[in-house]
Amino acid sequence: MNRPVAFLTGAGSGTGASIARMLAGEGYRLVMLGRNRAAIEAIGESLDTDWHFAEADLADAAATEAAMQAGLAWSGGQIDALVNAAGITGPLGKPIGEISVAEFDAVMAVNLRACFVTLSAALPAMYARGGGRVVTIGGTHGLRGRPGRAGYSASKWALRGLHRSAAIEAGAHGVTVNLVMPGPIAVERMRGLWRDEAARMGVAEAEVVAAYTERMGGALRRLSTPEEIAGIVRFLLGEAAGNITGQEITADGGTIL
Ligand SMILES: NC(=O)c1ccc[n+]([C@@H]2O[C@H](COP(=O)([O-])OP(=O)(O)OC[C@H]3O[C@@H](n4cnc5c(N)ncnc54)[C@H](OP(=O)(O)O)[C@@H]3O)[C@@H](O)[C@H]2O)c1
Repeated sequence: MNRPVAFLTGAGSGTGASIARMLAGEGYRLVMLGRNRAAIEAIGESLDTDWHFAEADLADAAATEAAMQAGLAWSGGQIDALVNAAGITGPLGKPIGEISVAEFDAVMAVNLRACFVTLSAALPAMYARGGGRVVTIGGTHGLRGRPGRAGYSASKWALRGLHRSAAIEAGAHGVTVNLVMPGPIAVERMRGLWRDEAARMGVAEAEVVAAYTERMGGALRRLSTPEEIAGIVRFLLGEAAGNITGQEITADGGTIL
């Protein structure tokens, strides 16, 4: 049987790398889009599946479109799943008035516009084959505002409008479109920040993480792991989620209740 093909952004690190491992484990062949060849090829080489690196800076819409087409050429037009996991945070702690237009545009380009571009290439290809699944990693900043995070929050919030509209359009073609909305995920990038803070304060990393989760105030007082987020993606791509579309699954330890 022809093995399914998944297109994935953000595979080179963090949550996207866990999703790449999950997809390979589920038997998908992978098209991985991104700009960091070394990181993505290292992930690819660790996977027990066929994979293709499609080079694109996702801030560049034309390059992203070209990478999607290169991926489709590699797969013979087959695309069973699209998972958008790439994202950037943009400026942290800057209020509106201090965020430059360039900084705002940069966040929107990667977090929002790149998803529009990947969807624009993926959906017609899925329609041609009569089905498919799209899952994008949003974030709880798309469910509430936060001071100092205006651009990031706006980008994650806008993904909801994009995906709900896409879900309605794609339903008639047997394609589901959903979002995962994580709170903080203990990825290497975040762990690095905690390690630095722990070193500065002369305390253990666990202490910094405990103070952080306490400040977050979630019912479960814990962070998500990248593997848990990959597990939610697995569910949304799987048989049991066949009748779920246009939804946002929040994984934040019960912070926004
Ligand atoms: N970590 C959290 O606490 C958290 C919470 C909620 C939601 N999320 C979301 O989860 C997703 C994954 O984040 P993560 O924390 O796992 O992050 P991460 O480790 O920082 O990974 C982000 C990935 O996106 C890629 N990327 C960023 N800008 C790109 C560009 N212009 N072109 C191509 N690739 C680009 C990065 O590749 P490069 O090597 O090229 O930079 C990297 O592989 C993101 O959408 C993020 O917003 C994360």
